Amino acid sequence: MTTPTTIVIFGASGDLARRKLIPGLYNNYCKGRLPIPFSIIGYSRSEIPQKDFQDRMCAAVKEFSPSSFDQAKWDEFAPSLDYTNGSFDDDVAFDRLNEMVLAKEDVMGGEGNRLYYLSVAPRFFLPVVQQLDEHKMSQERDGLWRRVIVEKPFGHDLESAKALNRDLHRYLKEDQIYRIDHYLAKETVQNLLVFRFANTIFEPVWNRNYIDHVQITAAETVDVGHRAGYYDSSGVLRDMFQNHLMQLLALVAMEPPTSFEANAVRDEKGKVLSAIRPLTDETLAKHSVLSQYDGYLEADGVADGSKTPTYAALELFIDNWRWQGVPFYLRSGKALKKKTTEIIIWFKQPPHLMFPIPDDQEIAANYLAICIQPHEGLHLRFEVKVPDTDADMRSVDMDFHYSDEFHQSEIPEAYERLQLEALEGDATLFTRSDGIEAAWAIIDGVIQRYAQDGSPPVGRYEIGSWGPQESDDMLGRDGRKWKHGCSDHN
Ligand code: BG6
Repeated sequence: MTTPTTIVIFGASGDLARRKLIPGLYNNYCKGRLPIPFSIIGYSRSEIPQKDFQDRMCAAVKEFSPSSFDQAKWDEFAPSLDYTNGSFDDDVAFDRLNEMVLAKEDVMGGEGNRLYYLSVAPRFFLPVVQQLDEHKMSQERDGLWRRVIVEKPFGHDLESAKALNRDLHRYLKEDQIYRIDHYLAKETVQNLLVFRFANTIFEPVWNRNYIDHVQITAAETVDVGHRAGYYDSSGVLRDMFQNHLMQLLALVAMEPPTSFEANAVRDEKGKVLSAIRPLTDETLAKHSVLSQYDGYLEADGVADGSKTPTYAALELFIDNWRWQGVPFYLRSGKALKKKTTEIIIWFKQPPHLMFPIPDDQEIAANYLAICIQPHEGLHLRFEVKVPDTDADMRSVDMDFHYSDEFHQSEIPEAYERLQLEALEGDATLFTRSDGIEAAWAIIDGVIQRYAQDGSPPVGRYEIGSWGPQESDDMLGRDGRKWKHGCSDHN
């Protein structure tokens, strides 16, 4: 990567730029992974002198990536940071931005590649792309690329996601658009692909013959906090399910791609997402639970009587040969007991038990726990004989913890990896238009059904709990239980 490269961050005065984007770029620079020469331009509405912008970003890296901060390195990096302000549909401000990009390119030795990062509210996605087009800033030529990273939320429902795809395609080719989902850049999520497809021992049992059910949990302890305004119009189904949880499900359930190439992987993900059986008016109450934590309605920014769910659990089925009849239980919520993201592959009971155990006891089934955060690792649980007994059994874990095998500093921040992949033109970890729409089709179906008269009620749950009783009941009816908290194996 030796072609001059300019990275423009729209929304550079926002939280994401401070917490993730600039620390990510700085870390990539320190690791020698940014193209050289490069230039980074922040663009936002606020007026910020260039020096102040650099100082703010320096403070951000110290705060959000303290272990990698090094003053000497920062002093090398900081001069590449520039800033200009304007609104996202302001012609004159985009003239200024264009001139700034061209001037930077002149200094770097000529026209180069450009990466535009849309870290802005969704209503500005299209205006920014239109401005880039009008100013001839997004047209590719002479082998020089122009790529646009689009943050979430990508659409508010299926219709708006389709419309946004259509609109973006008026100005950009699909291979210029990088729709980001930061879950796909988590090391442990990427490890799912390696785990499934670089080992032979798991794939033969990865199907309806051996797997009883799958649980996917993304639990958070934080409440909606200062994001209540945004959150109330979104809710957990849009905020966590349509993107992160559906992507996790796709990685767990997809067929083996023929190569680790962006379209090969995305084809398989698309296929499995479109094989998910939609919930219907008949199955909604049985296969979904929506709930709100106590006190949500009192938060600043939440509408009176809001029915926005902060917790959801869904039971989904995939209509294909591999997964017919295997429930996938997905849940996510705010203000829960623990911050944890995990996938549990629950295997079937042995078909016949030759050991004498009391009638009211069952032998525990094996499971594989894939812990995505915060204790990244894998646990395989199986039964062993308790020593000095006839045939008493106990469950034990075979464990792999990332922190035992790799230094924590080897695990990069999610955004670091995504920035690199976008710079390298590898879209494997980014969602294609059909993938976004397939995920919306399922989740929007649930949202629309809950908006109808006579839909099941949105319940309540206690802050600091594992969610509403109805969610336990949903699994309980099938004789199953949620497993809570990968790290402590309870
Ligand atoms: C974001 C959601 O996409 O993911 C937030 O908008 C949520 O509401 C966050 O808190 C969770 O991400 P992580 O990486 O902390 O699990």
